[in-house]
Amino acid sequence: MTQHPEKVTTAAALKERIAVWRKDGEPVAFVPTMGALHDGHLSLVKLAKQKADRVVVSIFVNPRQFAPGEDLDAYPRDLAGDLQKLADPGCDLVYVPGVGEIYPPGFCTRINVGGVSKGLCSTTRPHFFEGVATVVTRLLMQVTPDVAVFGEKDYQQLLVIKRLVSDLALPVEIIGAP
Ligand code: PAF
Repeated sequence: MTQHPEKVTTAAALKERIAVWRKDGEPVAFVPTMGALHDGHLSLVKLAKQKADRVVVSIFVNPRQFAPGEDLDAYPRDLAGDLQKLADPGCDLVYVPGVGEIYPPGFCTRINVGGVSKGLCSTTRPHFFEGVATVVTRLLMQVTPDVAVFGEKDYQQLLVIKRLVSDLALPVEIIGAP
């Protein structure tokens, strides 16, 4: 029977697992996703495993990167299938937070990256990069990885995240992958 990676749903449980790895001196790589995983995601996980002893994958459909007219509810979700797919490429822990874990009641901070966020995707989806930057900041601060891997497929997103990490001096290396 295929062994699925362990799943946690709270930042507290995540922190506990990561503390054990840190104690053993094991570097951590992170691959944030919105689930509905395909081969592209799995290749990011494989690369992450080459970069660090431990790999955390998050699955969180971020409501803040959907505008009211865009159908958040229709976004594909297949947690059971995703966990099955993650059994293979070397994922150690899957973080599947609820909305309240990322945006607790009263949460009202927005991360707005200027410059590279302008134009291209944001012409048709002006809210998008603020939603991405806010959730990625939250996730990076919860997971505290040494490296995080993002697809080059969303190239503008990759540049926004690199800018954000550099500007806020977050202690993580951002790696872009095909
Ligand atoms: O590229 C994605 O899947 C998402 O924008 C991300 C980076 C996981 C943030 O929700």
